[in-house]
Amino acid sequence: RSLNVITAALLLSVSAAASAALAPSTLTRDNGAPVGDNQNSQTAGPTGPTLLQDAHLLQKLQRFDRERVPERVVHARGTGAHGVFTVSDDISDLSRAKVFTMGSQTPVFVRFSAVIHGSHSPETLRDPRGFATKFYTTEGNWDLVGNNLPVFFIRDAMKFPDMVHSLKPAPDTNLQDPNRFFDFFSQTPEATHMLTRLYTDYGIPKNYRTMDGNGVHAYKFINAAGQYSYVKFHWKSQQGEHNLTGAQAAKIQSTDFNHATRDLISAINKGDFPKWDLFVQVLKPEQLASFDFDALDATKIWPGLPERKIGTMTLNRNPGNIFQETEQSAFAPSNVVPGIETSEDRLLQGRLFSYADTQSYRIGANALQLPINRPRNQVVSNNQDGSMNAGMRTGSINYEPSRLSGVSQDEAFKSSALPLVGSTQQARITKTLNFRQAGEYYRSLTATEKKNLISNLAGDLGQVTHQDTLYAMLSFFQKADPEYGRSISAAVSADPIRVAREAAALRE
Ligand code: HEM
Repeated sequence: RSLNVITAALLLSVSAAASAALAPSTLTRDNGAPVGDNQNSQTAGPTGPTLLQDAHLLQKLQRFDRERVPERVVHARGTGAHGVFTVSDDISDLSRAKVFTMGSQTPVFVRFSAVIHGSHSPETLRDPRGFATKFYTTEGNWDLVGNNLPVFFIRDAMKFPDMVHSLKPAPDTNLQDPNRFFDFFSQTPEATHMLTRLYTDYGIPKNYRTMDGNGVHAYKFINAAGQYSYVKFHWKSQQGEHNLTGAQAAKIQSTDFNHATRDLISAINKGDFPKWDLFVQVLKPEQLASFDFDALDATKIWPGLPERKIGTMTLNRNPGNIFQETEQSAFAPSNVVPGIETSEDRLLQGRLFSYADTQSYRIGANALQLPINRPRNQVVSNNQDGSMNAGMRTGSINYEPSRLSGVSQDEAFKSSALPLVGSTQQARITKTLNFRQAGEYYRSLTATEKKNLISNLAGDLGQVTHQDTLYAMLSFFQKADPEYGRSISAAVSADPIRVAREAAALRE
């Protein structure tokens, strides 16, 4: 009788197991099969070697061995959050982009970052901070890939890899070295403006919530009538802009090298959602030549041009998985939508290639099919196959034009046309004005900000041993503003007469 009871109970449990789903608490392999033992490898008896048939062990080790993808070649250290962008002002006179529909709300994902060092480097380093926003609009994803500082070091994409090599740790020592990056910058006078900003305390934001953002380049807005304007984007933090002095940064770094990530995550977890207002400055095409500098030069701000508010972004949700969301997010300035286009800015033009290119290496050809990058509207493209394809298209017609598919281009979304004259060339821009805005910025600083700028800058410039490099750098600061030049020359004990002589020989 007892045998019958046991058999019946056994049959019952087998059939129940066959029909019931696995409890969600049961550990499984990647094929969904339950794991019976996650502590002990299968071995040949108590003393023999481990068995090749232990598929669970092999899979665990294989997957672990492949956990890393290459980190971003720049901006590797970052943190992200989800949120929403709400439009508060009607700018339909400027842009027909659906993301700017008055009163509309668009989901966003933002990744903040530092530029030069690796993915676990301290968040207290002097470095521009990235501020990249992906807007999941109804007409495709728009990425506004900006920085906290409003200008950039260089104006031509040709120089970017060299500049980054000079700023990154040296290939022979793995150490960052002011002798290397000032060697580069002493032959790159257009960087004087950005360097001046970077060496103020704005070069170390207190955290990501308390920094502004800037699109840096000029982009184009196209309205429903097809008219275009040049625009620069600015995010203004509702938390205010706050920075760290070198001493404050050193103190934080000694106890917490993740302070900015920690700050953002804990603020959002507490329901203290950070907000930024988005503004644009607008320049009509006929005003483009009205400055004594090139308005499409990324080393320049547009001084004195009013800022028009568009709306407000609120970050309200932390990622559930850092790798899948923050690390696999792929922002690209080439991801624009109808009503927003790129300008002829030579730095931006290079970025239009570089991001999608690096991402198809970093994450794969189908990076944009990943949930974090996938548009919220339907994608109907004939691009196909490739590594890790997640299947966004079906049917037999993978070409266009086709009488069979019913899918076609729509002329309503043609790009704007740009009138052009001249021949191809390789030449620097004519209106360089390398130093004026650096000087204007220096003079706008308070006495304390100037003092901190000089001591921050002297800390790095004082390490430069090559005299020609040192004096070239000092002459740039002198050319920007004589008081600035004299102060930094004194701080590094340089000969003021040589600095003044070299500055006088410089061309604006
Ligand atoms: C990231 C290239 C200038 C802001 C990157 C990445 C590359 C790159 C290859 C890594 C992208 C990835 O792996 O997903 C370049 C080139 C530039 C340039 C070639 C100039 C020709 C700029 C400028 C800005 C900027 C001017 C700011 C306006 C960013 C940001 C990220 C980034 C915010 C990180 C995006 C993220 O969080 O995933 N850049 N960059 N870059 N760049 Fe640039």
